[in-house]
This record gives sequence, C-alpha cells and structure tokens, in this order.
Amino acid sequence: MSLQKEIKRRRTFAIIAHPDAGKTTLTEKLLLFGGAIQEAGAVKNNKIKKGATSDFMEIERQRGISVATSVLAFEYEGIKINILDTPGHKDFAEDTFRTLTAVDSVIVVIDVAKGVEEQTEKLVEVCRMRNIPIIVFVNKMDREGRDAFDLLDEIEQKLNLRVTPLSFPIGMGYDFKGIYNIWEKNINLFSGDSRRNIEETIEIEDTDSPELDKLIGEKAANTLREELELVYEVYPDFDKEEYLDGKLQPVFFGSALNNFGVRELLDCFVDIAPTPKPKESDTRLVSADEKEFSGFVFKIHANMDPKHRDRLAFVKIVSGIFERNTPYLHVRHGKKMKFSSPNAFFAEKKQIVDTSYAGDIVGLHDTGNFKIGDTLTEGEKMNYRGIPSFSPEHFKYINNADPMKSKQLEKGIDQLMDEGVAQLFTLELNGRKVIGTVGALQFEVIQYRLEHEYGAQCSYENLNVHKACWIDPVDPKSEEFADFKRVKSRFLARDKRGQLVFFADSAFTLQMTQSKYPNVKLHFVSEFE
Ligand code: G4P
Repeated sequence: MSLQKEIKRRRTFAIIAHPDAGKTTLTEKLLLFGGAIQEAGAVKNNKIKKGATSDFMEIERQRGISVATSVLAFEYEGIKINILDTPGHKDFAEDTFRTLTAVDSVIVVIDVAKGVEEQTEKLVEVCRMRNIPIIVFVNKMDREGRDAFDLLDEIEQKLNLRVTPLSFPIGMGYDFKGIYNIWEKNINLFSGDSRRNIEETIEIEDTDSPELDKLIGEKAANTLREELELVYEVYPDFDKEEYLDGKLQPVFFGSALNNFGVRELLDCFVDIAPTPKPKESDTRLVSADEKEFSGFVFKIHANMDPKHRDRLAFVKIVSGIFERNTPYLHVRHGKKMKFSSPNAFFAEKKQIVDTSYAGDIVGLHDTGNFKIGDTLTEGEKMNYRGIPSFSPEHFKYINNADPMKSKQLEKGIDQLMDEGVAQLFTLELNGRKVIGTVGALQFEVIQYRLEHEYGAQCSYENLNVHKACWIDPVDPKSEEFADFKRVKSRFLARDKRGQLVFFADSAFTLQMTQSKYPNVKLHFVSEFE
C-alpha cells in the first residue's frame, strides 16, 4: 500500500473523561468491535482486565487510578485506529495534556447522571485551545440521569462547545428503549442484555411512519417525534469541515457497559475523524505524507516490566515511515540512533514491528537518551514544539533518607523527571532540590517508585510556594532585571533545562512582583515566544 494510503487510513485519538465516566469500559468495547479482544470486561470485576489492557503500574492496581497512559491499536473496516489512553485523575493531568499533543482528535465521555465534571472541563479547554476535533459520548443511558436537552445545554455552556446530536435517546434509565441514530437514520433497540456483542439496527426511513409506534409504543414514538423536531430546529446541521476545525461537536448517546450506541459512535468516528494532521516545528510545518520520517517523544514510561528494567519512549510519528534498524537523528543530542526492537501496540500486547507510519505510535527502548519533547528525524535539524511544562501547584524539598543510596536516588529522580512525573528545581541560593507536582498524589508515586524501582529512600520537607513562574526578562542586561535578581535571590531556582524560575509564595507576592518589575515577564508555562 502506498504511503499516502497508509496514512489516510489512520486515526489517532484519545478518550478523555472525568474518572468513572466510563472511559475504560468504552475503550474495551471499541476494541471488541475491532476484534482486538475476544470478550469485553462486561462482567462486574473488570479491574483486573483494566490492569492488563490499559495500565501497567503496580501502584495503579493498588489505587484503582489510571496513572499510566497507554496506547491501544486495532483495525476496524480497513481503518487503523490508535487509542491513546489518558489518566483521568486530576493529579495526572499533565500526563494527559502531553498525550493531547500526540492525538488528532478526541472522544469526550460524559456520565449522563453527573453531567459535565471538573476534570472534563479542564481537558476540553486544552483541546479547544488546540482546535482538536471533539466527539462527545454521553454514557450510562441505562441509568436514570439528566434530561438530554438539559445535558446538551450544559455541555455547550460549561465546555464552551457548539454541539449537534447525531443520535438521540429514547427514554432513559428504567425506561431506556434505545436510540434513534440521526446520522444513519435508523433505530437501535435496547434489550439490556450486556452480553450481546452487536446490536441490531432497524432502518426507519421516516419517523412519522406507524412502524415507529409498533417498535417503541405510541407514547415513546410521539415523544421521540417531538424531540427530534426540536433537535432539527435548535441544533445546527452536522458539517464535517466545522467538526474538523474544532468548531462543531457531534454528540452520541449510549451505554458503554451494555455495548449500546458504541458501534454508531465508531462508525461515525471512522467516517469523520481526521487523518494524521500536519505539525508545526521550529522551522516549518511538516505534513504527514512527506516521505521522510519525523516524530517526537510525548511520553516516557520506565520499568513497565519489573523483570526488565527498561524505559520505553513513546514516539508519535508525525511524517513518513519509521523503519526498524534505520539510523535516525536525535536532534537534541545531534547523533544518529538505530532501534532494533521498536514496539507497536496492538490491544493488549506490544510487539516488535518493522514499519510504522505517520499517525502511529512506536515505543522505543531507551537507556536514558530521551526526554519528553525530543525530536527524531532522518537528518533534518528541527524540533517539534508544543510540549510545555505547566507550573506545578505543590512543592516540597526532597531529601535523601538513606545516605548509602545517594547515587540511586539521584538516578531515580533524574529518570522520573525525564518521564515527566514531576519537575525538579534547584534553588540558586543553596542548591537544595525541590520537587514540584501538579497533584499531591505524585509525591507518593515518586517515593514509591524510588523505593521499588531504584532502591532509594527519600523524605520530604514542606515548602511554601504558591506558583513557580518561568522568568523572561525583556532585557537581560537591564538594571530592573539585576534588581529583581538581587531582591528575589532567595526565591530563584533553575529547572532541569537550566531555565530561571521564580517561586512566588502567594498570589499577592506574584501580583506585587509583576507590578514592581513590569519588564520581567513571568510565565506559567515553560515555553513562550
Ligand atoms: P473510567 O475508566 O472512566 O474511570 O470508568 P470505567 O470504565 O472504569 O467505569 C466506571 C464505572 O462505571 C464502572 O463500574 C463501570 O462498570 C461503570 N459503567 C461504565 N459504563 C457504564 C454504562 O453504560 N452503564 C452503567 N450503568 N455503568 C457503566 P464500577 O462498579 O466502578 O467498576 P466495575 O466493578 O464494574 O469494574
């Protein structure tokens, strides 16, 4: 198959949701449709299955929170689908933000009873900023929940989206009868049998036909007719271009657990979701179908298999073909590297592949060469942009609790920071090391992993910092900047890349500092123009 054809048949996306909305369940059902797994975890205790398919770490099994972001690929109707799983827990939001730099579109899962939740708001905001095309899936229709119109209103308002339903529920909870598929103009009846793999669809040319009354009863049929009339009146017609530009978001209703409404979602997804998009580098816009390979590291996962202490760098292929045993330029190091066992991900397993195409993710075994954001090319010196660090919200001094293991501690901290688990700062004044994280949970993760993976012990000491800001003086030689550095010397630190950072102990200090030093710009993200 030609390069163009291969690229055109790829869809790379992430499912984002507030924890418990049903992301894992939906992922499993999608895999089931792709024939990638034999039976979805429709049974109650699917947490073990969850551990096997989408999360790797021991700590995740302990807590039942998705710490890891993994890749699951499958084929459906000739389309190669790559799902990038994202941790829903807010303490791991940064991991999810980074994953969003590697996807071409997203599916947002919303719990019909809970509506739009906090984590969904934040993640959708990031997608909106990047104009990522979004499809919304309202889940758990087999449960009592919110009225469909109210929910659509809430999605529009809280998520700042412009929605158009492509399916519509018939009843809900106990009375849930099925969905009318606006996209395909047919009906799906719900039987509540969770073991069914494929639901039956009934073609309905015209919702006014008495056929509809026979199928779902006169009352439900009339309600559906009224509701559909309102849908057509109130919501814009679906327009693929608008969806692809991130300006219109189609909505589907269903029940992932019951495998209901999932096929409709998938069919529409493969039809409308974007093929691998072009990406901006620091020198030019790179198109997916260029012949030469290029890609970037968006995630590093260490020690996935405790038996082999390996690190895996996840590379999103932006353009061309990635081939095994071919030398590629590691742009930051300025040296060529070959990969003898690149991994591709197929549902529950990873396997070595010879060739991968733009849109795919390859996992490269790494002995410490990669950092998040690194670019690989066939020789061109360019860097992909857009994986910034965000200002952490929790800060602690990190101390060595076992002097015999200081080397192990240093190595452990170094590698965990390269993975992006947290950020390390070194105070200018006394060289003390400070760990900054997005969520409090990461301190425990770091302690746990240092101990279990590196044999090192650490202890923490509290530090009162409100925000870390990256410093960007208009004129580095100015009096103003010199004064800033003198006055604030106790609050200055360097991040891992050596960039100067200001620790503000309160929102008030931050505001005062900004007004006193207007020409010393303070940024909440590490990348700025
Ligand atoms: P997450 O990955 O977004 O965190 O959610 P997950 O899929 O784990 O689903 C969270 C809970 O919601 C699970 O129940 C799951 O079975 C349930 N669920 C998912 N989809 C539906 C649905 O369409 N209808 C109903 N009624 N429930 C749904 P749990 O009891 O927390 O876990 P488990 O013991 O079933 O694994």
